[in-house]
Amino acid sequence: SPKVGVSPREHLSPLKIFVLAKKEINSTFGDISKYVSEGGEFLSSLELDKMPVIDNADRETVLAFPDKVRGIREVLARDHMKCVFFGRTSNGKSTVINAMLQDKILPSGLGHTTNCFLQVEGSKNNEAYLMLENTSEKRSVESVSQLGNALHGESLDPNALVRIFWPSNKCNLLRDDVVLLDSPGVDVSPNVDDWIDKYCLDADVFVIVANAESTLTTTEKKFFHKVSERLSKPNVFILNNRWDASANEPECIDKVRKQHLDRNISFLLEELKVYGSRSQAEERVFFVSAREVLNTRIQKLKGEQPSGGQIEGYQSRYFEFEDFERKFEKCLSETAVKTKFQQHCERGVKIVSEVMQIMDKAFQNATSLRESKIADRNEYLDRLEFTKMQMHELTDEVKHRIEQLVEQVECQVTQALSE
Ligand code: GTP
Ligand code: MG
Repeated sequence: SPKVGVSPREHLSPLKIFVLAKKEINSTFGDISKYVSEGGEFLSSLELDKMPVIDNADRETVLAFPDKVRGIREVLARDHMKCVFFGRTSNGKSTVINAMLQDKILPSGLGHTTNCFLQVEGSKNNEAYLMLENTSEKRSVESVSQLGNALHGESLDPNALVRIFWPSNKCNLLRDDVVLLDSPGVDVSPNVDDWIDKYCLDADVFVIVANAESTLTTTEKKFFHKVSERLSKPNVFILNNRWDASANEPECIDKVRKQHLDRNISFLLEELKVYGSRSQAEERVFFVSAREVLNTRIQKLKGEQPSGGQIEGYQSRYFEFEDFERKFEKCLSETAVKTKFQQHCERGVKIVSEVMQIMDKAFQNATSLRESKIADRNEYLDRLEFTKMQMHELTDEVKHRIEQLVEQVECQVTQALSE
């Protein structure tokens, strides 16, 4: 039920639905944790040898739950919405992520720039730092150029992961628990199969950053075929980036757009089969210029007047990027709520009902134990009563016989005296 002070769902941004759901499920698990601990304490306090209302196995089951609940709460705290970006080298993956984060965070440039996986996530204390895989050492980064330098000189495996923690207060996506993962070009690494196992299985959304100046390559397509073999119906968006280049050729822009759109849709619909209809697939294809969006946002951040309008069609490309972001956020949040929280909910319900069953069993057993004790006591009282009566009778008889005896003796004595 909605908590006091939280505005109705329809006024929330899609990402907030995930954040709110996480808060609610977290507080529910707080209650579950209290419930199972209290249940365990109660069952522990029973002296089962004197009062066998439950067997030891059931008690152990309940006593193991607090740890299990703690484990779930830890996973829950780490749960986030995750999006992975793939595409050929230089298509603009890093630039797209930077545009979405509203700042130049990831290194980008000509040639093969990103040489390992870079995961951007929000840092709680609003510090900027990075962490290499399998270490807990924080390397602080003050600026993007420093980040580039910090990564340079490291001989990093293309499969390696560098986590970049960026101040959450600088970007809505990071503040709302979104994690964005940048990858090296699919065309430059021979080990893409490992990528899927390592980075894709917990991803909620995939974005293909394609190059609008060319067309989707076999390498890019093949990679996504493998992704969709491993995950059932992944959410795939296609960004035809560098669409600003189309402004140079206004005479064929509509034709090129239609060609890309048809090919993209047929890839999603007929090859990957991840969407059910043409209109659904069409909703997932966009023509954008990440560089323009990034430049505009950086200028806005500096308080300067955006100067992106010089290239023909700039405004509509900018709107299309925003449209992408809206649909992306909705899809990301809905999927993450379903895939991440549904499991926890089911586990929570199972734990609570198991504890309830065991407590109910204890209650039933205690009731019948009490009834049998009462029955035992009644039988004992009956026997006591009977014995008492017998004693009475016996006493009466003995008394009577003694009286007779005394009478006899008296009689004999009287007789003897008179003789
Ligand atoms: P790798 O990390 O090497 O795989 O490349 P990437 O896909 O991350 O590309 P990156 O973001 O580094 O961009 C490559 C170059 O393309 C950079 O010089 C960008 O400025 C430029 N670029 C990115 N997006 C656009 C765009 O929309 N239009 C134009 N004209 N250039 C772009
Ligand atoms: Mg890159």
